[in-house]
Amino acid sequence: MAPSTTPTKIPSLQIQRQQRRLLQPLNSPKHKRVSASLPAALLQDFFTADDAAETSRHLKVREAGRRASDETLAVHAGEKFTDGAVVVGTDSIATPVVSGTTHWFKNSEDLIAFKEGRRQSFEYGRYGNPTVKVLEDKISALERAEATLVTSSGMNAIVATLLALVPPGGHIVSTIECYSEARTFIRDRMGKMGIKSTFIDIDEDMESFLKDVLDQNDDVTLFYADSPTNPMLKCLDIRRIAQLCHQKGVLVCIDSTLASPINQKPLTLGADLVLHSATKYMAGHHDVIAGCISASEALISKNAAYMIIRGLKTMALRVEASNRTALLMAHLLEAHPKIDRVHYPGLESSPWHHLAKTHMAGYGGVVSFEVKADLHGTMRFIDALEIPFIATSLGGCESLVQQPAGMSFWGHTDEDKANNGISNNIVRFSFGIEKFEDLRDDILQALDRI
Ligand SMILES: Cc1ncc(COP(=O)(O)O)c(C=O)c1O
Repeated sequence: MAPSTTPTKIPSLQIQRQQRRLLQPLNSPKHKRVSASLPAALLQDFFTADDAAETSRHLKVREAGRRASDETLAVHAGEKFTDGAVVVGTDSIATPVVSGTTHWFKNSEDLIAFKEGRRQSFEYGRYGNPTVKVLEDKISALERAEATLVTSSGMNAIVATLLALVPPGGHIVSTIECYSEARTFIRDRMGKMGIKSTFIDIDEDMESFLKDVLDQNDDVTLFYADSPTNPMLKCLDIRRIAQLCHQKGVLVCIDSTLASPINQKPLTLGADLVLHSATKYMAGHHDVIAGCISASEALISKNAAYMIIRGLKTMALRVEASNRTALLMAHLLEAHPKIDRVHYPGLESSPWHHLAKTHMAGYGGVVSFEVKADLHGTMRFIDALEIPFIATSLGGCESLVQQPAGMSFWGHTDEDKANNGISNNIVRFSFGIEKFEDLRDDILQALDRI
C-alpha cells in the first residue's frame, strides 16, 4: 500500500455545506456523540420518509434494515433500506449515476418547501448529489455514523477534517506514526497557519504522554491518529484515548483505513470522527481514488471529465449564442418600465463597461436585473416564466433563473443581504442557447404578470 503521491488538495468551498453537515454534531463542546447502540437509532434516521407516503412494505424494509448485518448493510443501506430510490427517482437496482450539477424547482413554493426541509431534494451538486448520497448513507450505516462526507481522496478527507476542526492558532495532537502526508500537512502547512502540533510516540507510555499534553495545553481541540498505523499496524486504545480527550473537551478523529469499517468502528469505541482512504478497502479494486467520502464521486469524476471534453467542443458556439441573447435582453430590459435596474457589463450604463471592453471578447450570458416589485411580486414574475428552469448555477444550454433572496441568500438577515447588495427584487438570469425571440417573449409576458 504505497503512500499516495497525489498532491494535497486543500478543500475548496465545494464541501462546505457537507462539512457543515458533518460537523454539526461536533462543533459544540457538548457535541452529540454517535451512539454505540446503533444501528437501530441510526437506521431510524435513515427512514425519515414522509409518514403519509410510507407503506407497510416500507415498514417491513425498515425493520429488515434495523436487524441487518454489515454484509447486508453494505449491499442495501442507502438504497433498498432507505428512501434512496425515491431520491434518485428510478426503480433501477443498479445505483443510477446522477451527473447533473443543478436541480430545478417547480415554482417558488416548491423551492421554499425544500429550503424549509418539507421536501427532500437537491439544489446544487456541490451541496449534495443523489448518487453520492447513496454512498454516504451506506458508509454511515457501516460506521454507525449519523452522516458521512464523501471527498475526492483520502487526503482530501484528512485535510478537510483538520482545517475544519482546528482553528487558526489552535493545537492538534497526533502520533508520530500517523499517515506521512497527513503528518507533513499538520507540521508544515498547519504550522504556517500558526497551528501548534504535538506528535506522541505510540511506543512509549502513550496514555501518560497524552494526559500530560492535555493537562499542560488547554488550546488542544483535536486528537488525530491512524489506527492501525501504516505500515507497522500499531493500534491505539481508542476507548481510553477518547475518555482522556473528552475530559478536556478534545475531539478524537481516527483514520481507520487500514482496518476498514468491517473490522473496526471507531465511533462505537468513543471516537468522534472516523475517516478512510476509500481508495483502499472501500473501493477495493485499485481503480478509484476516493476518501471516505468518494467512491461514487470518483466514478462521477470520470463521467464529468468525459462530459467536459464533449462540452468544450461546442463551447464557442454556446457562449457566443448566450452573449448575443444576454446583450440584446440587457438592452431591452433596461428600457422596460417594470425594471428598475440592469446589471450587465455589456451595457454602457455599467460602471464596469470600459474595463469589460478591454478585458472581454463578449460579456457573457448572465444578466441580473431589479424588478419593480417586492419579494413576492418578483416571485410571481419568476413563476410566470415558461422557458427557464428555476435553478442555481449558470453557463449551460438551458436558461436558468433565480432570485438570490430566495435561493443563495435564503434565510440570511436583511443586513447580510444588504451588505452583499442583494435586494428582494433582484433576478439572476443565465441565458442558455434557446432562440432569443422565444426568451424575449417569455420574459415580456412574465413581466406583464407582476
Ligand atoms: C492510512 C492512510 N490514510 C490516508 C491515505 C490517503 O488516501 P488517498 O490516497 O486516497 O488520498 C492513505 C494513502 O495511502 C493511507 O494509507
